[in-house]
Amino acid sequence: MAEQATTEATTALATEATPATGTAPGTPAAEPAPMFRLAGVDKVYTQKSRTVHALQKVDLTIPAGQLVAIQGSTGGGKSTLLQMLGALDRPTTGTVTLAGQEISTLGDRDLARIRARDIGFVFQHYNLIPTLTAQENVEMGLAPLDVPAEERVSRAAAALASVGLADRASHLPGELSGGQQQRVAIARALAKRPKVLLADEPTGNLDEATRDDIIGLLEGLWKAGLTIILVTHDSAVARRAERRLRIHAGRVTEAA
Ligand SMILES: Nc1ncnc2c1ncn2[C@@H]1O[C@H](COP(=O)(O)OP(=O)(O)O)[C@@H](O)[C@H]1O
Ligand SMILES: [Mg+2]
Repeated sequence: MAEQATTEATTALATEATPATGTAPGTPAAEPAPMFRLAGVDKVYTQKSRTVHALQKVDLTIPAGQLVAIQGSTGGGKSTLLQMLGALDRPTTGTVTLAGQEISTLGDRDLARIRARDIGFVFQHYNLIPTLTAQENVEMGLAPLDVPAEERVSRAAAALASVGLADRASHLPGELSGGQQQRVAIARALAKRPKVLLADEPTGNLDEATRDDIIGLLEGLWKAGLTIILVTHDSAVARRAERRLRIHAGRVTEAA
């Protein structure tokens, strides 16, 4: 089942995950733009008289097609970093580029458009709408995009099939196991054919067997070309990533 789902996911993505090319047309054999480039990124939160340096001088390049795990203690800046990558917020200083486009200077509307179109989000608590079926939840992921209703339905069904849940499309989240709910959330992220998948503790709520199942699914998507960045407390998950980063007191380092 897990094997089959992974293979289907791989097939579904094969034609969708194209490498980032931030080069001008006609530029011969130039290096493709990395998926992300952060340069001198600081994030300072100010609340009343208290100032928190959540990110400090972060320089980071993530090529297209990497599977990156981010580990670090609570309050270290993991979520803040994901917010910078996911166009949820802007740095206080420094630049963030996504596939060659600088996103750190964009206004709220442009950021929202990039989030809707290019970034797939997966969360620890799945964030499914309990009164909607799996199929409807996945369709919701396409709501902010200009996708005709008929195509929304077919893309959602294909995304559910790609995570091995074709036979659960009409179930409500409450009728699904935790692992199945996370698969629906992954399908919702995939339906928009994102440039990158960002996951904040995607296996934090799952038992070990289900965790391995979900990581296997993510690995299959990565092998098909998708760029995946995940935050995890779980060393067993991090070990399976291609690259490991640590973040402590707002500073990012490469881990062995
Ligand atoms: N919106 C905010 N306002 C003020 N401080 C914040 C805000 N978000 C995060 N912080 C602070 O920034 C630091 C990093 O937080 P966060 O990125 O959530 O860490 P992590 O996800 O690694 O636990 C913490 O000290 C946190 O309290
Ligand atoms: Mg966090």
